[in-house]
Amino acid sequence: MSDNLARHFNLREDVTFLNHGSFGACPRPVFEAYQAWQLELEREPVDFLARHLTENMRVPREVLAAELGCGSEDIVGVVNATTGLNIAIQSLDLKPGDQILTTDHEYGALEKTWAFVCRRTGAEVVTVNVPLPLTSAEGFADAIRAGITDRTRVLFLSHITSPTALLFPVETLIAEARERGIWSVIDGAHTPGHIPLDLTAIGADIYSGNCHKWMMSPKGSAFLYVRPDVQGMIDPLVVSHGWTATSKEPGAKGAFGNSPYIDEIEMQGTRDPSAWLTVPKALEFRAEHDWWAVAAQCRDLAQETRARMEELTGLPPLCSPEFCAPQMVAMPIPECDPQDIHDTLYARYKIDIPVFRWQDRCIARLSVQGYNSRPQMDALLDALGELLDLGVTPGLRLA
Ligand SMILES: Cc1ncc(COP(=O)(O)O)c(C=O)c1O
Repeated sequence: MSDNLARHFNLREDVTFLNHGSFGACPRPVFEAYQAWQLELEREPVDFLARHLTENMRVPREVLAAELGCGSEDIVGVVNATTGLNIAIQSLDLKPGDQILTTDHEYGALEKTWAFVCRRTGAEVVTVNVPLPLTSAEGFADAIRAGITDRTRVLFLSHITSPTALLFPVETLIAEARERGIWSVIDGAHTPGHIPLDLTAIGADIYSGNCHKWMMSPKGSAFLYVRPDVQGMIDPLVVSHGWTATSKEPGAKGAFGNSPYIDEIEMQGTRDPSAWLTVPKALEFRAEHDWWAVAAQCRDLAQETRARMEELTGLPPLCSPEFCAPQMVAMPIPECDPQDIHDTLYARYKIDIPVFRWQDRCIARLSVQGYNSRPQMDALLDALGELLDLGVTPGLRLA
């Protein structure tokens, strides 16, 4: 798969890049389309920002909505999932004693967002430890349900988790939350382009995802989805020309002719919207190269590498295969200094992969994208085998 596809990317050839999950990587034709948007902005800023922005911003919304199974008035472009989630989270009307139910697998920046909001509102976070290994959707749902009280106002879950690369089965819990009048807020930073998404079927009140990770659009492209019946509650983080004093009144229109929800979030003062405008090109690239088929090959390679690593370390996996993010696997490694292993992998072997401590485990989180190859997986296992003293002779690899 990869020899052929690696040529489409600008990634450095001297680095084995196994960390697509952190910031993504953008194929050359998509990156060129991005630069073309930037050039157009630079050539006539007023024409671009004052005359055509509203109509241009609508296109990615429509294209993405078709891809994600939602209405084009229900998603709005934001620069990243952190921003999308902050807009939504900081809009929630929380009171002292209200509870936010979440897990111990969430992303640090969002944990801080909740801590910030709790300090301001007096609400509190209730963190459920998801039992590992994750092997059953019912077991997962039971663990979360056990944390629900009559003060639970919000259910906050990653759809794919960052430290553990788990695919959480969120749908049942979202439906149950709605029945109980609990808002569901889903962190989908890793899902667009990684798993097929149908936002209407998932049914979350709020869902934010990055296009710049697995969808491979330029950095700074993400979306915030809010269910139509919840949109009236959302406020912008930055108040600009899109805000109107009457925006909360029934049937109100936004300042630029969209819904208030869209106009208030989309307009954030002068900025470069090129990454968002390039999202349709990223989807076009993916379609041209049949990327879901590429993704399936990547999944196989990721899961195979995980199994080989397990054979080397003898450490149990964090989940059964159906709960593993397809192209990203968190591989437990023996007790070590993770920072040192990470730094040495990069300095000595030019392998870029996150290695870190999470709770009582050391983890190497492998991402496999279309530009990666099986020899790169071999190189990783050889290097980890050497550094962790796993008894691997380079070249004599496990099958
Ligand atoms: C689960 C999760 N949520 C949120 C984010 C934040 O993404 P961004 O920095 O693009 O906002 C990440 C980033 O890796 C993530 O893994």
